[in-house]
This record gives sequence, structure tokens and C-alpha cells, in this order.
Amino acid sequence: MSSLTKVLEASVENTERTKQPGRYRLGHHLMPPVGWLNDPNGLCWFEGRYHVFFQYSPFEVKGGLKFWGHYSSEDLISWKYEGTALYPDAPCDCHGVYSGSAFVENGKMHLFYTGNVKLDGEYDYINKGRVTSTIHVESEDGVHFGIKEEVIPFEKYPENYTCHIRDPKVWKEAGKYRMVLGGRLKEDKGSVLFYQSEDMKKWEFERSLTTENTFGYMWECPDYFVLDEAKVLSVSPQGLKREEFRFQNIYQSGYFLMKEDGSVSEEDFCEWDMGFDFYAPQTFTDNKGRRILIGWMGMSDADEEYVNPTIEENWQHCLTVPRELSFYDGKIYQYPVEEIELLRKGSIAFDDKEVTLETEKAFDLEVQTESEKLEIRIGRDVLLKCGDGQAAIFLSEEAGAGRTVRRAKTDKVRNVRILADTSAVEIYLNDGETVFSTRYYPKKEQQQLEVKAESFTGRLWSLGDFVFE
Ligand code: FRU
Repeated sequence: MSSLTKVLEASVENTERTKQPGRYRLGHHLMPPVGWLNDPNGLCWFEGRYHVFFQYSPFEVKGGLKFWGHYSSEDLISWKYEGTALYPDAPCDCHGVYSGSAFVENGKMHLFYTGNVKLDGEYDYINKGRVTSTIHVESEDGVHFGIKEEVIPFEKYPENYTCHIRDPKVWKEAGKYRMVLGGRLKEDKGSVLFYQSEDMKKWEFERSLTTENTFGYMWECPDYFVLDEAKVLSVSPQGLKREEFRFQNIYQSGYFLMKEDGSVSEEDFCEWDMGFDFYAPQTFTDNKGRRILIGWMGMSDADEEYVNPTIEENWQHCLTVPRELSFYDGKIYQYPVEEIELLRKGSIAFDDKEVTLETEKAFDLEVQTESEKLEIRIGRDVLLKCGDGQAAIFLSEEAGAGRTVRRAKTDKVRNVRILADTSAVEIYLNDGETVFSTRYYPKKEQQQLEVKAESFTGRLWSLGDFVFE
């Protein structure tokens, strides 16, 4: 370990010791020990454990120099914080160990990420002044990582791209290693780049892929996977214009179903999540063959509308619970992995036209209905209002920290699942066809949950916390 790494390690550990209890700290959502968290990285199942890395800025609660923080788990509900996995300690990543993925083979974990370097000088850091290369590191135990190898140096990227090329996702297909990277073309058009390799060391550029018409100026954090028969390309585009029912946040995340000829079209883009806080998701498959997605419950550059009250507690943001993906009726459904049910405690069954239940902040609610309209409120906040082909959430000024409404077009609501935590809520409609993920900040410990519809049945549990080793 270099002396710089030792200094960084000691400073991070020192900073993590300043961690304080706080009213908004989460029970069943992974969050940074201190400071800032963004994208999930390096998700994998490796030698009997799940590994969840994340973009981590321990020293700067509003984001800054990026490291990779690291959690691991045997069962997705008891977790171990493994500390910092990757430090920005090399010339190739000295301004940030940016996002990337894991690929597991023959008892080794391979991590691929973007090393971010900003040159000194008067640059725009879009077209000039930034060097981003693809780096590979290996691990035998999933906790200690070897030498950083630059596998795609910056100069090797195609010339029609700006300096914004990043976030490698790696998989294996037809005997070859494959990689997809996100990028911004010089014409300010979002795009992905595909590479292939025989040995994970030498990567050959295969092709670029974008939509016919510009669909945002940059595509971040791409992912590619096959779910049943569907070939799915997930991207996080920046630069889409806000609409009433779509693209309501500053940046988006969604997927295209790739066509037979390997193309994608902008009309097919389907947003992963309609809440205020969801970005840069990544997927992986586990030992049970499940395709699991985890997203960042946060949003960059959303300051103009959002003052996050957790800043006072010296931390920001969290990850969604792991969601199992399924594909049917031409679309992807997302649902909390079944392990989350093990956190359920006690239960109250109900059915009526209108019910009011006392609940703690962390709960799990299931409602089934055949009614045209449904409303679920908690105190002054409307967690869900469905009817007339739309679903919406309406947060009060206080709980929404300045954010008020998010809407989605939906079919008639048949069922709802709500996972609420101390300061986060995930709302799944119609078996996870539409999802809203949102940070919210209810003040009261005990709250009144109201469900209203012509008729419904349901069940409410309180939810225990993840256990930390
Ligand atoms: C997405 C992103 C990635 C980048 C990382 C840096 O939120 O901008 O494109 O690698 O965050 O933290």
C-alpha cells in the first residue's frame, strides 16, 4: 500500500468515527457512514456473499472527491460495512474513482471503473481538460484489491466523443468479454460504446449506439442484460426536457428494449422510476439466477429545488432496496427481493372503504383493490393517489423538503406495496410496473396511515432494520 493510500485510509476511518446518530438515518436502506453517496457500483455475488460498492465522498457531504465504499452481505438483510475499497490514489484516478461494475469468474472478482483526472488550466472539462480511462483491478477475497491497470487509455476512445466517456459495465457473452460505456458525442448527443475482449486486458472498440434523434446530451451509467427474451439497454440520460408525466427530474434513468438489428429508439425509452430520487441503477445476477437492480436514491444537481435535511446530520443519500426484475407483457417489473419480508414484524389485516392505522416510520404496506380510485395518505402527505389513468405522490412542504408532486400515467391500480423507512419511501404499483422512489422527511415517530377506496383489502407490518455486523 502506498503512503498516499495509507494517509487516505486513516483520514477516511477518522472521518467515519465522527458518525453520529441522527433522526433521519435509515433502517433498511444502505447509506454512507458519513458524507455523500451516489451510484451503486460493482454489484455482484461472489464466493457466498453479495457485494455492493458505491460512489462515496466521505469528506464532503455535498459530494466531492469520489472513492468506492463497500458493503457485503450473505442474505441482503444483514450487512457488513467493509470500509473503502478503492481510493483515488493513482495518477489515473486522482480526481475520482468513478463508477463501474464487477465481473466474477474463476474465483476472482474483477472491478472495472473510470479513473477521472482533471488537468490544471482553463478548460471546459467537457471537450478538453479531462482524462477518463477504464481501469481494471482484481481481488481474490472481494475485500483487498490488486494493482490498478489501465485497460482502455483515454487516447484510445473514438475521436467523435467528448471527454465524457465513463462507467464501464462488463459481462460475458458467446465466449467473449463485453463492455458498455456511457458517453457524450461531440455533437452533444448521448450514446453508448461497446467494446469486446478475449482476456479482459485488451479491449477492442466494437460500435457506438445511440438513438436516431438526440435523446439527451449525455448517457451515464449504462447497463446491458438479457431478461427472458428481452435485450435490455439501461442508461441514465442527461438533458431531456421536463414533461408533465415524464422526465420530471433534472436527470432520468430508464431502459430501451433493443431491436433485432441491435438498434434502440427514443420512443421506446421507459423510465425505471417516477419518484424524486432515483438515478444510475445497476443490475447483476445472483446465485439464484435472479436479475437484481439497485438504484441510487438521490439526484445530482437538483439543488435548486431541494435542501436535504440530512446534510445537518453530515450524510446524504442512500440506495434503493434490491429489486428483482421480471419481464412480461413487453415490459420490466421491479419488486423488492423477497428477503425484505424477513424484516416484517407484527401485522394488521384490514379491508373496508376507509381505514386509519397507527404506524411507525418504517413499515411495509400491501393493498389490493378493484376500485377505480385509491388514495393512501400518511399525515399530510399523499403517498399515492390513483385514478383516471394516472398515479401521483403529493408531499407536504415539510416532508418533501421543497419537492411536492410527481406523476405517472398508469393503468388502473390493482395492487400497491409501500416500503417506508425513516426518511425514504418506495412505492410499487401493479406488481412493480410503476415505481416511485423518494426521500421524504416525516417529523413524527408515530403516524396515521389512511387508505381510501371503494373497497380494498390489505395488510400492514412494521419493518425492522438491517442488521450490521
Ligand atoms: C452518475 C455519475 C457517473 C460518474 C459518477 C461520479 O451519477 O455522474 O457518470 O461515474 O456519477 O460520481
